Amino acid sequence: MIRLDKYIASALTLTRKEAHTVIRQGRVTVDSKPVRDIGFKLDETSSTVVCDGVALTFQKFRYYIMNKPAGYITSTEEEREPTVMDLLPERLLKMNLFPVGRLDKDTEGLLLLTDNGVLAHRMLSPKHHVDKTYYLESDIPMTDDDADAFLKGVDIGEKNITLPARLVIDSEDNRRGHITLCEGKFHQIKRMLNAVGKNVTYLERVAFASLTLPSELERGEVRELTPEEIETLENFNKSE
Ligand code: URA
Repeated sequence: MIRLDKYIASALTLTRKEAHTVIRQGRVTVDSKPVRDIGFKLDETSSTVVCDGVALTFQKFRYYIMNKPAGYITSTEEEREPTVMDLLPERLLKMNLFPVGRLDKDTEGLLLLTDNGVLAHRMLSPKHHVDKTYYLESDIPMTDDDADAFLKGVDIGEKNITLPARLVIDSEDNRRGHITLCEGKFHQIKRMLNAVGKNVTYLERVAFASLTLPSELERGEVRELTPEEIETLENFNKSE
């Protein structure tokens, strides 16, 4: 059971106060009956809620995908530098969204934002080994020996060597490639490249769990996940 104001706020991405106005204006019906009581309780799995003639679907959690540009730090706190939260439109700032994991200030690409703490925890937990793929550029040509070293694990100054990571070199000059890893230590890819005597000159996350960076999403843009993407992500997390 859920309160009607909570349902309306979630389904229409409104603040609780805005939802109160919509309900009090008599624009909402529950199972065909007009309801003006903001505290009305309904079963979100079986009730039909209609606002302004449109049937609503209840979404417990929100998920947004961002194409992070360089120059923004991944933080929800007020900082002296621009943060990824500065890229969110005003109405999304009311939703208690937070980024799932961190990208360095100079790293670009896929960043997931949600208010689902359990899912975020699962996606980040070292126990669950969730894959993340990055496009990277190196200052010096990468070699098959580097790829072998990453598969075996390299020493980046942590207690343990890194877990197996897959490097695919995909340019003729051997300076560009994709790397897939299933852990997320601080500056991990930069430190892995350093461990084989190279420096990352560019890094972009292109995939995280079941999500891939949508080609139509411009740098700095954010969009809500589609219902299909949400279902796949939630199922992915159940099965991991
Ligand atoms: N590894 C890094 O070094 N930086 C990132 O932002 C992500 C992974």
